Amino acid sequence: MRSVSPALNRSCTGNEMTALKFGAQELPDLDDYATLAEQFVPGRRAIFAIVEASFLELLPKGSARILVVGAGGGEEILRLGSDNPDWWFVGVDTHRPMVDLALRRLDGAPVGARTQMEETAIENLDQRDFDAATCILTAHFVPDDGAKLAFFKAIHARMKPGAPLAIVDGTGIPGEPETELLRRIWTRHAVRNGVAEEAAEANAENFKKVAVVSAERQEDLLTSAGFERLTPIFRVLSIKGWLAFA
Ligand SMILES: C[S@@+](CC[C@H](N)C(=O)[O-])C[C@H]1O[C@@H](n2cnc3c(N)ncnc32)[C@H](O)[C@@H]1O
Repeated sequence: MRSVSPALNRSCTGNEMTALKFGAQELPDLDDYATLAEQFVPGRRAIFAIVEASFLELLPKGSARILVVGAGGGEEILRLGSDNPDWWFVGVDTHRPMVDLALRRLDGAPVGARTQMEETAIENLDQRDFDAATCILTAHFVPDDGAKLAFFKAIHARMKPGAPLAIVDGTGIPGEPETELLRRIWTRHAVRNGVAEEAAEANAENFKKVAVVSAERQEDLLTSAGFERLTPIFRVLSIKGWLAFA
């Protein structure tokens, strides 16, 4: 596994703009990230199992190069790569501590030898022609002020024509009754799953600050970026996932 660290260009990630940045949240010890993510996100493991099954169905047998956008922590690379020795990964993430966490978790795992992690914005990645891509719980950190569309276009530009993107994101309109109800259920679910009440409340509050958009807006943005045949593959509370084809 190789760690390359070209200069982090924050200005084009949208990360410095209006929305709450991932690293600006009150994050627990990042070594607990994987455990906490499972406590917070209902059906988290199912996300990776469904994405893996999707790629097994869609990718031809043999070697495939998969772009992982927001690869910090390493979860999708570990989950998708462990049983698929022909899949190679390039992971990009803009938050150094999450890149480091991915590197630590991948170190010594067989898929680590098939992975390249980059601390960079997708817009600055030189590589192209990916056979598939993932963007899991990441795009909702990119503001919808032009940056989110540019982010989706940058992913699209790096994929082979027709290649599948699996995207999973928080959706909703903060303040709307349905979104707020789902947010309260989210909080109760986290507490039932062992998260301290205060931490669960704080996490749910963040939902108001990140750049979540409605599912319809997300679909419009993906379509405007050039993706076609949007196919829903996941929905739990406010988390929604699609396949979208480049
Ligand atoms: C909630 S974590 C999800 C990480 C991983 N996909 C998972 O499901 O475990 C969101 C990640 O997106 C990264 N991120 C936020 N904005 C980004 C951007 N514009 N480009 C790349 N990564 C970004 C954060 O640094 C963080 O590591």
